[in-house]
Amino acid sequence: MFVCFTTATFGSLISSSFMSLYEKVVAFVDISFHDVLQKRHFEKTVFWFERFLPGLTEAHRIAAYAHDSERAFRDETKRVPQNYLDADFLRYHCEKGAEIIGIFLSENGAGEADIEKVKHLISGHEFGGDLEQTALMDADSVSYFETAVEMFVSKRASIQGYEKIKEKLDWMFNRISSPERKAFAKENYEKWSIELEKSKK
Ligand SMILES: [Fe+2]
Repeated sequence: MFVCFTTATFGSLISSSFMSLYEKVVAFVDISFHDVLQKRHFEKTVFWFERFLPGLTEAHRIAAYAHDSERAFRDETKRVPQNYLDADFLRYHCEKGAEIIGIFLSENGAGEADIEKVKHLISGHEFGGDLEQTALMDADSVSYFETAVEMFVSKRASIQGYEKIKEKLDWMFNRISSPERKAFAKENYEKWSIELEKSKK
């Protein structure tokens, strides 16, 4: 086990017996990231996942909120992505995130079936897969265009270069699995693609 998450690690915030498992995961993820922008992205991912897959269970909501957990524990001295489209790294991002949350859930009394459901969903959130994994991938993309794209265009483009950010925007939009779901991201995708183009000049 590469890291141990105990309730002691995160103090009384997570150890309260009055908290649902979902609330504990939210507290764990929020403490791990310490970033309001990330929190909005996770909340919006839950929102769109529910929209695309009505009647979510707690395990589905946990997966949506915690899908990017690998990023909070990334050790950049060991492994870094070559670019935003680095497929090997994206697969690692999915698997490591699933592992991190799997450990947290098992330390917090989750049932085996729920743990497997959460890990299955997170492991497919970048490339999709079955109906539910694909719905989570789509929710992640739509949320990205509501909560994160501005930061990529206004901050990262000047550091990482136009091409890298353009690739990321195109990939996040094009992977959305249907025109109906793409429609929820289209306006922001087009708006921020134009802004990115302007920043080139
Ligand atoms: Fe995400």
